[in-house]
Amino acid sequence: LRHFLTLEGLGRPLLENIMDRAESFSSVTEQTVKKVPLLRGKTVVNLFFENSTRTRTTFELAAKRLSADVLNINIATSATAKGESLLDTVRNLEAMHVDMFVVRHAASGAPHFIARHVAPHISVINAGDGRHAHPTQGMLDVFTIRKLKGGFAGLKVAIVGDVLHSRVARSEIQALNLLGVQEIRVIGPRTLLPAAVETLGVKVFHTLEQGLEDVDVVMMLRLQTERMSGAFIPSVHDYFARFGLTGKRLERAKPDAIVMHPGPVNRGIEIDPEVADGPRSVILQQVTHGIAIRMAVMSMAMSPDGGDKTA
Ligand code: CP
Repeated sequence: LRHFLTLEGLGRPLLENIMDRAESFSSVTEQTVKKVPLLRGKTVVNLFFENSTRTRTTFELAAKRLSADVLNINIATSATAKGESLLDTVRNLEAMHVDMFVVRHAASGAPHFIARHVAPHISVINAGDGRHAHPTQGMLDVFTIRKLKGGFAGLKVAIVGDVLHSRVARSEIQALNLLGVQEIRVIGPRTLLPAAVETLGVKVFHTLEQGLEDVDVVMMLRLQTERMSGAFIPSVHDYFARFGLTGKRLERAKPDAIVMHPGPVNRGIEIDPEVADGPRSVILQQVTHGIAIRMAVMSMAMSPDGGDKTA
């Protein structure tokens, strides 16, 4: 594991290895131990060309808890605004002898492009590219499920909403398929589901009432209007009326079903605030687990043997 760009094509043992490693880092994230020295002397660059609250800050915290130095590049005040290209930006940072780029970009494939051009000692971690992939989000989501449900066998998981524009949904579906859940459902209007979505290994539903029946996990998605570019944008009122997760609709799921959301949450659009803040919600636990998962991925990428005992 040198770069971490997508979950596609990875094996189940590697995903289990990342989660096991994250488990061992959980005590660090809970601050019983402040730091571990695994990345001492390394420099991690957070290169976020799109906005972020959770991903950027948990990567920063994770890097600091691994004892790395962290550079947060403010794109708005960087030379990007003067026309500097992505590759020139990367090459200039590389000349400062950095060791890792954590990249978020609106263009699908941007982290892969950077990975193809950096020096062999540098790792690139994808922190979300376009509508393509958000692999550490996918990993922290399945890590949360494993912690709360004890495993994946026999689980029915529903992913609800704007799957079409969601890099999170793609990475979640890849991870859940690799880990062998019983059933993955996607629930949403036809206009917000990818063409031939069934080929991803999911069952398709167009009503919450049918799709939530007997599920163990409900993963909500927001409407990603920033990626809709003139296409169909549903009215917020109509959308909540048809696809908003309410307490009443959640009664269709199993009594111990958990409610997840990668954030940011748009209350009253895809989810009722009472559900988002209710006893089934594990949304903030997902955020906490993001630190341990990102520590695991970064430490494996910087490990001389790739940290992959399964390779
Ligand atoms: N889940 C997620 O990617 O959130 P941010 O956009 O705040 O990083």
